[in-house]
Order: sequence, then structure tokens, then C-alpha cells
Amino acid sequence: MNKSTSDHPVSYDCEKVMPDAASDAPKQQQVERMFDDISDSYDSLNRMMTAGLDLRWRRKALSFLRPFKPKHILDEATGTGDFALMACRIFPDASVVGMDISEGMMRVGREKAKRMGLTSRMTFRRADSMALDIPDASFDAVTIAFGVRNFAHLEQGIAETSRVLTADGHLLILEMSRPYVLFRPFYWIYTKGIIPLMGRLFSKESAYRYLPSSIEAFPHGRPMVDLLRRCGFESVIVQRYTFGVCTLYFASKSSTKSEKNV
Ligand SMILES: C[S@@+](CC[C@H](N)C(=O)[O-])C[C@H]1O[C@@H](n2cnc3c(N)ncnc32)[C@H](O)[C@@H]1O
Repeated sequence: MNKSTSDHPVSYDCEKVMPDAASDAPKQQQVERMFDDISDSYDSLNRMMTAGLDLRWRRKALSFLRPFKPKHILDEATGTGDFALMACRIFPDASVVGMDISEGMMRVGREKAKRMGLTSRMTFRRADSMALDIPDASFDAVTIAFGVRNFAHLEQGIAETSRVLTADGHLLILEMSRPYVLFRPFYWIYTKGIIPLMGRLFSKESAYRYLPSSIEAFPHGRPMVDLLRRCGFESVIVQRYTFGVCTLYFASKSSTKSEKNV
């Protein structure tokens, strides 16, 4: 991690992890291409790789928003829309906008929204989280599931998120993380051996080699909490799920909750 100045946000190791090490295309372009390539198999492989646990993590994460009954929800890095569509069902009075750089992923998401009869409240739009074409304070909740790890400039992306949230808004981030020490040997065998193998059999191996490297390089825990606070979040709650393989950050712009579990 490099030092921050007010004009130059901190840079993080995860920003240097590239989906295609042989390419000199900018990271965001490589990420977009990778997700376009795996969009058709993304949902089924996701379910298979997490044995369905991702659904439980998503549900637990969204329960943090329940007391606030958000009406305008932005789901960044929405991909095929799993988190956004779940939010749509949990908050029947809310409108949800899903944004992503990968049209391939959102094409799958739009079809799912149609099948679920949610197109009146759920829309998808292409946008880069580094520079959102949205006025300040447009949403009372923003969610990002398994997306921030792929940002080319993590702090810039979170600062943008903070900008589009209302003064009493909330941000939910779900991200894969390094598990507790005792669980790590099994975890590394699984993520560096079995997951790339599944990728090779059912999707694209390189995407599933990028996954463990980007998880390893991500600033989990305290550095992430510090980043969120620098971006204008007064309080941050951290919860780890399933031996720590997934971490939730629930960040509030006004200080209604105290920081805990870091
Ligand atoms: C692992 S997928 C997660 C998709 C979805 N949120 C989910 O929970 O399944 C990561 C998504 O982040 C998107 N993404 C990465 N960088 C982005 C950026 N700068 N702006 C918008 N979307 C981005 C990718 O295109 C991809 O669809």
C-alpha cells in the first residue's frame, strides 16, 4: 500500500493484479473483457464454487439495510444482478439500479429480471464505478457484491460511491477474503487448485486464476475500514462469514452505529 495525500488517494496491491498478465491494456478494460467472456457460465459456477453459500452471505448482508427501508438503491458492479434482484425482492417499495462495465454480464441480468417480473423496479445501466454519471446524493443505499476487488482505483471508486449517497445513506460491501489461519491450507488448495480446474472445465481458466490472486492482494479488515472512513463514512461494521472467506462492510455516512468486529 502506498501513502495518501489529499490529491492522490492511496494505491493498493489489488489494483496491480491483472486478469491477463500478458496484456498491456488498462485494468478496467481487461476486467470488462474477462466478465464478458464468462457471463454465460458465471451464475452456475458461482453457485457451484460457493456451494450456494453466496446466497446466504447476500441475504445476511442485505438484512443490515432492513431497518432503514431504502427507496433508491444502487447496486454497483452488479454483474448478472444477483444482489440487486435479491434487494428488489426484500424491499418491495424500492427501485434498484444495477450498474456495471460488462454488457455481457448485464445481458444475463436483464433476462433474469424479466423472468422474475421485476423490470418495473429494476434497471441496468452501463457505468464505470470510477466515474459515475450520477448527481450527488441520488441514492439512500449502495450495494457492491464481489466487485470492489476488481476496481482499477479502489479509493477513487469508494469516494464516488460516497458522493452519490445521501448524507444519511448506507453502503454495503461484500467481498471474498483470506480466511482464519487454521482454515487457510484447505482454502488455498481449494482456490488455487480446484477453482481454476472448475474454471477450465466449465468456463475460462484464466478468470478463475485471477480470482485467488485478487483476493490475496485485497486490503481486508482494518485497511479497508480506514479507506472507508477517509471516503466520508462515519461508522463501519465488519462481519466475517464462513471461517472468514467472505467479509461484509456496512458503512454509514452519519454516525448512527459504532465501529466493531474489525
Ligand atoms: C465478481 S462479479 C460480481 C457480480 C455481482 N455483483 C454478484 O454479486 O454476483 C464483479 C463485477 O464487477 C464488475 N466491475 C469491475 N470493475 C468495475 C467498474 N470499475 N465499474 C463497474 N463494474 C465493474 C465486473 O464487470 C463484474 O460484473
